[in-house]
Amino acid sequence: MIRLQDVTRIYSREGAAVKALDAVNLEVPTGEFASVTGPSGCGKSTLLNVLGGLDKPDSGELWVGDLPLHSATDAQLTAYRRNDLGIVFQFFNLLPSMTVEENVELPLLLRGEPSKKARPRAEEMLDLVGLTKRLGHFPHQLSGGEMQRVAIARALAGRPRLLLADEPTGNLDSENAARVTDTLLKIASQKIVTMIIVTHSSELAALAPLHIRMLDGKIL
Ligand SMILES: Nc1ncnc2c1ncn2[C@@H]1O[C@H](COP(=O)(O)OP(=O)(O)OP(=O)(O)O)[C@@H](O)[C@H]1O
Ligand SMILES: [Mg+2]
Repeated sequence: MIRLQDVTRIYSREGAAVKALDAVNLEVPTGEFASVTGPSGCGKSTLLNVLGGLDKPDSGELWVGDLPLHSATDAQLTAYRRNDLGIVFQFFNLLPSMTVEENVELPLLLRGEPSKKARPRAEEMLDLVGLTKRLGHFPHQLSGGEMQRVAIARALAGRPRLLLADEPTGNLDSENAARVTDTLLKIASQKIVTMIIVTHSSELAALAPLHIRMLDGKIL
């Protein structure tokens, strides 16, 4: 279970305070698939950043399972990001000089897993996203949708408890967006990971069992 209680994040911009998150209360059950929508500037990315331990709330409590992110130490946050979290961004962030398989393996190798274990895990995840035939390709040889599915495989390789995605189809044409949406739904149906996906796609948003609408830093 993910639980936010009165979570507030205030930025100052040109001397004025901007409440990017304004006393947000939210519960997302373990294994649930939640979509987040709302107009530009309403606080969606800020919500993902605090959930990802990349930003801290100014007040309120934020629990991921039994880990209190609002009061966690830097060491706890580092371990949380490395072991419990998978993140997918709008612009894929693949390493161009590494193959598809190497990109997916990398987070496992970085946390000390032997290549003997990392490689089959990467292959399993690339099979899940339907890219078994692309293992040895480089990112520039792929379509946008394929690159995004590699990024999803990479995010899942470390068996995260929580998968966060910020506009995963925002940079894709409709055909590629549909493939990425199908892939996310397939992962959601397996209920192995809690998923929170920020999206402008009303289609993807509506397919999520839990649809979170935001406006002006608040959840509607
Ligand atoms: N680092 C920052 N410094 C100052 N203000 C910020 C910062 N990050 C976000 N904000 C402000 O906080 C508010 C929420 O921003 P956020 O990025 O969460 O919106 P968003 O819903 O993700 O928008 P978009 O759909 O455009 O990505 C906005 O008013 C934004 O200008
Ligand atoms: Mg955003």
